[in-house]
Amino acid sequence: MSLDALPAHHPLATGETAESPLVAALEGRRPAHRPVWFMRQAGRSLPEYLKVREGTTMLESCLDPALAAEITLQPVRRYGVDAGIFFSDIVVPLKVAGVAVDIAPGVGPVFERPMRSMADIESLPALGVPGDGGAFDVALEPIRQAVRLSVEQLGSTPLIGFAGAPFTLAAYMVEGRPSRDHMAARELMWAAPDVWEALVAWTSRAAGLFLRAQVLAGASAVQLFDSWAGSLSEVTYVEKCAGGSRAALMAVADLGVPRIHFAANAGHLLDPMGAAGATALGVDYRTPLDQASRAVGGRFPLQGNIDPAMLGAPADALERHVQDVLDRGSEAPGHVVNLGHGMPPHADPDVVKRVVEQVHERG
Ligand code: CP3
Repeated sequence: MSLDALPAHHPLATGETAESPLVAALEGRRPAHRPVWFMRQAGRSLPEYLKVREGTTMLESCLDPALAAEITLQPVRRYGVDAGIFFSDIVVPLKVAGVAVDIAPGVGPVFERPMRSMADIESLPALGVPGDGGAFDVALEPIRQAVRLSVEQLGSTPLIGFAGAPFTLAAYMVEGRPSRDHMAARELMWAAPDVWEALVAWTSRAAGLFLRAQVLAGASAVQLFDSWAGSLSEVTYVEKCAGGSRAALMAVADLGVPRIHFAANAGHLLDPMGAAGATALGVDYRTPLDQASRAVGGRFPLQGNIDPAMLGAPADALERHVQDVLDRGSEAPGHVVNLGHGMPPHADPDVVKRVVEQVHERG
């Protein structure tokens, strides 16, 4: 894929991150060592995070460029991981667009008004098109600044930009808050297909523009997080959600950066997730990587999938588990080591650091 559409100073265009282990593995090459990073590596498991976050809310810290960059860098410094994940949240593009949403500590995103009718969707703020200088484009400026500051400090370590997948975002907006089975969202898809379609069209644009802003400001790869897609059947996913994910990922396809598509609990969706505009797939901890690779015909570099619960296991059991992930991951055309979902808040940073060392020595 050509990188011609990237700004000349972008770290992939200058070559600074082009040969990094992360980018190489995501492009299906075999770097000198297996790259590793962790979903939710920035955050509550780090004492230095708790310290800098004192006195600010989650969303305030996402919109403070210097603070967001500092938090992005913290796990890279401490663990020596092969990528920074941009410190932000899946609801940040909605917040800056003007949607009334907050992140309640210990709960997650909470919306003032759940979206259920066509009138609700029509009341959503306009998003415009990339670089149009409209309200949303301007509101994304703190995000671009935070990315630029992160990338400057990361040097040859690539930054991964991210967005929530259109389904997961839409499900939050319909439910109004985290829910166990996403029933209101799954009902709306079939009860009011036109309302669902309009909402997913909006969340796809929000996610796509959020990704594009991060890439143009310096991110060397992106990941789309579909945290809740695992609650869908394959048929429902393909009919009602995959198109939105595809639109969000294709919003950066011309820029030539690797596009990782991750969903939790979604071994049954790997094939359609691959078809939805991804260049690499994130696999949760329930599906062994060799099996996942076979399920997609060996066509995608894979990312994953250490069981987060194993971080609390005795050292020898964890070491065997990590080795098993490395062995099975070798079957894919490229392998980025990660957890098979987010870092637990109580993870011991010293244990995490030993996992990174093991991957770098043996991967
Ligand atoms: O470390 C990283 O990976 C970088 C930043 C990041 C955050 N959220 C920071 C955050 C990323 C990539 C996310 C993605 C995200 N946010 C997802 C998709 C990933 C997944 O886990 O499936 C989802 C579903 C959300 C929504 C959300 N935001 C939840 C469920 C929560 C947890 C609420 C809680 O307190 O238990 C948040 C808040 C959040 N996002 C925190 C962080 C560090 C915790 C807030 C805090 O420390 O005060």
